[in-house]
Formats: sequence, C-alpha cells, structure tokens
Amino acid sequence: MIQLIRGFKDILPGEVELWQEIERIARNLLEDFGYKEIRIPIMEKTELFARSIGEDTDIVEKEMYTFPDRKGDLITLRPEATASIVRSYIQHKMYAADPARKLYVIGPMFRRERPQKGRYRQFYQIDAEIFGVASAHADAELIYLLTVLSERLGVTDVAAHINSLGCPECRPDFKAALLGFMEDRLETLCADCKRRSGRNPLRALDCKVDTCRAAMTDAPSILDHLCPDCRDHFDTVQRALTELGVDFVVDSRLVRGLDYYSRTTFEVLTGSLGAQSAVAGGGRYDALVEMLGGPSIPATGFAIGFDRLAEIAGLKPEEFRKTPDVYIAALGPECQARAFQWSCALGVQGITADMDMEDRSLKSQMKRADRMGADYVLIFGENELKDGVAVLRNMDTREQKSIPLDKVVQEIKTAVQSTQSC
Ligand code: HAM
Repeated sequence: MIQLIRGFKDILPGEVELWQEIERIARNLLEDFGYKEIRIPIMEKTELFARSIGEDTDIVEKEMYTFPDRKGDLITLRPEATASIVRSYIQHKMYAADPARKLYVIGPMFRRERPQKGRYRQFYQIDAEIFGVASAHADAELIYLLTVLSERLGVTDVAAHINSLGCPECRPDFKAALLGFMEDRLETLCADCKRRSGRNPLRALDCKVDTCRAAMTDAPSILDHLCPDCRDHFDTVQRALTELGVDFVVDSRLVRGLDYYSRTTFEVLTGSLGAQSAVAGGGRYDALVEMLGGPSIPATGFAIGFDRLAEIAGLKPEEFRKTPDVYIAALGPECQARAFQWSCALGVQGITADMDMEDRSLKSQMKRADRMGADYVLIFGENELKDGVAVLRNMDTREQKSIPLDKVVQEIKTAVQSTQSC
C-alpha cells in the first residue's frame, strides 16, 4: 500500500470541521480589519525565496523543496507566503493608486524540516501583510490581531514576544558589537553559526543548539544599539499595545529565522506544544519591496502556523461536526427510488439527507442513522407505501408521525427547521 510522504498529513472529516471553523473566525477578523484575500501560486522561481528569505538561512540552505522543471528552470514549493505576496504586489503595481494595502493568504507551505509534533513538511499558514504604512501602529495592529484571534479560539498559554532589529542606520553598529563578542567564542559555536558569523552574526542569537545558546547568554542587546528613530518606533509599538491592553514580553534575542526583517519583530509562543514553540511570527520588512524591484515601500506582516493553532485551540471539534438532518431508511427498490428523489430535493434546499442505497434491513439502517447522529429518520417500507405515508421519527424525543407521501419534503423541512431554531 502506498503511504503518504513523511511529514505530510491528511486532515480528515471529523478534524477538518475545526479547521473550517478556525478559518472562518480568522477570515472574519481579518476582513473586519480591512484585509483582502489574495491567492498566490504554490510554486515560484527559486530565486524569489533565496533573495528574500536570505541565502544564509536554514529555510534556504536546508529546507526548501527545490527542483528543476522539465526545461531545467529551478522552481520551489513556497516555504512561506511573504515573498510571493511582495512579488505579486510589485508585479501588479498594487501601489499605483495608493501604496497602503492590507492582504492575507491562507494555504499550504512546504519546508523539509525534521518532522515532530507541531512540525510538518507541508503545513498551513494564515498570513497577513500591511504594505505602505511605516507607522508603528501597523505593527501594533498585527500583534493585537494575534491576541484577539487567540482569545476567540480559546487558546491559552500563549505569550507575545517583541523586539526591534533596528534599521540600516543602527544595525551595522550592533552587528560589529555582536561580532566582537562572538570572536572569543567562535570555537564553542556550531558549524552553521561559525560559518554564518561573517555575513550574518545575528543568526547565532536564534540558534537552538545548546552550546550556542550557552555561549550567547551574555551577548550584547540590540535594544542598546537602536538609533533614535528606531527607539521611538519601538516605544510607540509598546505604548500602543499597552493602551490596547495587550500583554507582551520584550525579548532582545528575538531575531527570527528570515533575513528580510527590520525594526519590529514578534512571535507568539506557546508552551502547549512540548518545548516552547512559535504559533505565529512576523515583523516589519521595510526594504524588501525595493530589494525585489519595486519602489521603496515599507511593509509589515505575520504568519500563523495553522496546524499548531488547531492543536492548541480550545474549541471542541464535536461542536462543528456536521451530522445528517435526516436519514431516510427506505426498504425495497420502489421505496428507494422515491427516497432518492426526496433526498435530492432536500439537499438542494439545504437539508442534509442521507440514505441507504444497499437495501439493508430496517434494523441495520436504524443503527446506522444512530451512529451518524441523524436528528430524524424517515421510515419508508412496503407497508408505508401501501398506506400512502412515510413515518418521521425524531431521534431525540422518539416521537413519530405519519406524513402523506406528497408532503414528505415539506414536512421534513419544517421539522428540521423547527429543531434548528430551538
Ligand atoms: P515563520 O516564523 O517562518 O514566519 O513561520 C510562521 C509560523 O508558521 C511559525 O510561527 C509556525 O507556527 C509555523 N510554521 C513554520 N514552520 C512550520 C512547520 N514546519 N510545521 C508547522 N508549522 C510551521 C514566516 O513564515 C514569515 N513569512 C512571517 C511573516 C509574514 N513575516 C512578515 N510577514
């Protein structure tokens, strides 16, 4: 038997209803705040991700699904959505009339990481981006949205961590200080951090290897190196969040695993998935639009790990599972033919009807209706056919009533609607 690929998964009926509910709540929230959905391709030219996310990152170095297509062009399954959204924003000149745009994407991403709880090779993100707004209030809005969404989904045990990575004015000063600190400790750092230290020493602050963590404990803080504009920007983010009543932790080690960030970065961390892991992450990337060939337009955004969110959401999947409104237990070919017409007529009117097509006994059909959680069962056998009626049974109250055959659809509809409105 052919099994699915390691790190990939099926989301089956029974579980998918929870995903649909989370998606509905997230979409409503984003659209209430003026974000518009955009659908982008699953694959892009490799160069797009390599240039935006950064050649020295784990994602680009080790995790992308990259392969030549039949003509030898290198293409990559998207490991994230931001680069593609920026590409689309530039390509369609979405900035032409007004650079300020709020966009969101919900869909699968692909990274070849080591699979474990909460980490998959195909995973899903809810990604939101704000273009054309340099104000710190855009960052505060994104962090606020993450806390509101957590609340609406009954997620507890989460904390918003925030930091500022400075700008091209102040970051070189910090990089130099960090490099100075790392020089004495290079031998204790892992091979990746050692190799990347020349071009991007900030990576070492984010490294999960124990020896690197230990070596970097007393590393200088970027927050001591911010220029006055970045300081001011970061203070405004914090003030706005405090006024919104959002709890947050300032975490000067939060550098994120992608290279395009400047100024505000943030993550929502949870302890509910074993080791501390991020349910969402994001930040400002003021240079990326220009770097990818567009005008100089600031931007900021986040992505939520949908799989992780579904794992820690306090919603109960049972509450969203759809059960049939009515199960039609028809016996014999003639009754089945009539029942089939009724079940189609009900379906197009929004009443979920299920029926047996295999001519099973009444007893086994009743069992099946019970197992499926049907609210009503319509019993229709030879005796009923002779009497010109069908029997509608309320599975909850056990009450039964006979319905003339020409009124079946209407009566079921009325019964189901009255149950639903109770
Ligand atoms: P990221 O931190 O790489 O950021 O991913 C965002 C979230 O996606 C993570 O916090 C995590 O919940 C989820 N995630 C990442 N990898 C996996 C995986 N292998 N399995 C399950 N979940 C995963 C970004 O992707 C940026 N594009 C965010 C952003 C948007 N920055 C600005 N705009």
